Amino acid sequence: MAVQTVGVIGAGQMGNGIAHVFALAGYDILLNDISQEALDKALALIDRNLERQVSRGKISAEDKKAALGRIRTTLNLAELGQTDLVIEAATERETVKQAIFEDLLPHLKPNTILTSNTSSISITRLASRTDRPEKFMGFHFMNPVPVMQLVELIRGIATDEETYKTLHEVVERLGKTAASAEDFPAFIVNRILMPMINEAVYTLYEGVGSVKSIDESMKLGANHPMGPLELADFIGLDTCLAIMNVLHDGLADTKYRPCPLLTKYVEAGWLGRKTGRGFYDYRGEVPVPTR
Ligand code: CAA
Repeated sequence: MAVQTVGVIGAGQMGNGIAHVFALAGYDILLNDISQEALDKALALIDRNLERQVSRGKISAEDKKAALGRIRTTLNLAELGQTDLVIEAATERETVKQAIFEDLLPHLKPNTILTSNTSSISITRLASRTDRPEKFMGFHFMNPVPVMQLVELIRGIATDEETYKTLHEVVERLGKTAASAEDFPAFIVNRILMPMINEAVYTLYEGVGSVKSIDESMKLGANHPMGPLELADFIGLDTCLAIMNVLHDGLADTKYRPCPLLTKYVEAGWLGRKTGRGFYDYRGEVPVPTR
């Protein structure tokens, strides 16, 4: 199936990155959110991130202009009904995602492929609540989307081969690499990454190291581009906790229990970069460890 128009639901961290890379690859984008402010912010951020690529000689000024020209925003979810592919990138809560699909389904043309950028929720369960489980897939991008090469493709139990092949082709047109993951809690990347981040928080909680020494150890000792606590702040501590809970509930193994210190940061509303504070305080000139 040929895909040309793409609807993206949610203009946050992931949604704006997804709109960015699809527009750059020549797709026509309809970006939807419930807040006009979020849409305006997303467009400004896409502009800035495209400019970053122009200044580093990765794309031309014409590419940037053309990409921006391919992105339209709307507060009306029903408008996405006419697109060939919908990518849901709303808040990582199952009830929110289900409510969005319920609102969208009556407006959706029969052939539209429906996907979710969920980082951990069961694709089979999300698909079963729609009218097209065979045309439903997990389409998981990594943050920052314009930079990260990988896209996880997750088939639900009912996903058909044509849908999988179509999305595989889309990933190729984006210039990215697809990894196929089976539909089990947190798929591949987060199944491995989140327990590592959670263990870093335990290492802090138990006083084995400070924020600075833990991050430095993994950067200089394991060649990770960011330390695990810095990365947790970058992803969002609420998202990290939500994924640990999915692993803990879904696999029923105590090795996935979320660290109480991670829960405490989330309860404080210290969610990382997006709220200005997490394992680091970002409100000054340079990030300062909070422990
Ligand atoms: N848009 C476009 N380009 C961007 C960008 C953005 N949002 N952010 C960074 N870049 C580009 C920069 O322009 C720069 O380009 P060049 O290589 O051409 O110079 C490059 O990315 C590196 O950026 P910086 O020099 O500013 O910063 P850096 O070297 O410190 O790298 C980083 C930043 C790419 C984020 C790097 O620190 C990194 O790879 N961190 C780990 C990220 C990671 O693990 N992501 C996965 C998170 S898990 C996930 O997403 C799954 C989930 O479900 C939770």
